[in-house]
Amino acid sequence: MPSLVAPAIPVGAFAASGQPTLPIGSGVLLRPWRITDAEAVTEAFQDPEIQRWHVRRADSVEEAREWIERWQSSWSSESGGHWAVAGSESDGLVGRMSLKSLHLEDGKAEVAYWMMPTARGRGVCTRAVMTLTRWAMEKGGFHRLEIEHSTANRASCRVAIKAGFEEEGVRRGAALHADGWHDMHLHARVRTEA
Ligand SMILES: CC(C)(COP(=O)(O)OP(=O)(O)OC[C@H]1O[C@@H](n2cnc3c(N)ncnc32)[C@H](O)[C@@H]1OP(=O)(O)O)[C@@H](O)C(=O)NCCC(=O)NCCS
Repeated sequence: MPSLVAPAIPVGAFAASGQPTLPIGSGVLLRPWRITDAEAVTEAFQDPEIQRWHVRRADSVEEAREWIERWQSSWSSESGGHWAVAGSESDGLVGRMSLKSLHLEDGKAEVAYWMMPTARGRGVCTRAVMTLTRWAMEKGGFHRLEIEHSTANRASCRVAIKAGFEEEGVRRGAALHADGWHDMHLHARVRTEA
């Protein structure tokens, strides 16, 4: 059944654009993942806060390698965009930034993130979200980006607000965590907003 609406991002356009490397300032950038990041990803997933909010642990470097391969291939299959947040000189891993749940016809995606414990509290995540948002809306063709976090995750809520994602409400009992169901707070930015 033919659609009456032209897609916001035509099939193939996302993959064809090529995954960019994006500087976020203060010697940190977003870059595509490398297999050599696997050890640092394994270390990140030892952190109780990352385990708590991302409901996963990495039991081996091999497992982290498999995740990275999936993150890398998601660009060409147009199912996601996954970046390492890394030092531009040292290349050391600082965190992760993703566009997931892509809905290209409607130009929609969800932004997700974690930061290494030693990198937190310096505004890096907020700057990374703002940089990725600018790229996604100005170059990637996205119309709407969402951030969703448990109502118990205050740090994630601050990041969303500081990055200009307006609060849109709470989805009750919307995500299952290790300690049970969590209410999820939805934030979004729409391209028409300043
Ligand atoms: C959420 C996370 C990515 C933020 O990274 P970050 O680089 O520290 O973020 P920023 O420095 O840009 O901002 C953090 C904000 O949260 C605030 N914050 C941190 N812990 C907090 C807490 N327990 N309660 C309330 N606010 C908190 C900080 O004070 C800061 O806000 P401010 O600038 O108004 O003071 C990081 O804490 C993390 O990786 N947490 C574990 C994984 C996770 O929660 N991922 C998100 C899942 S939705």
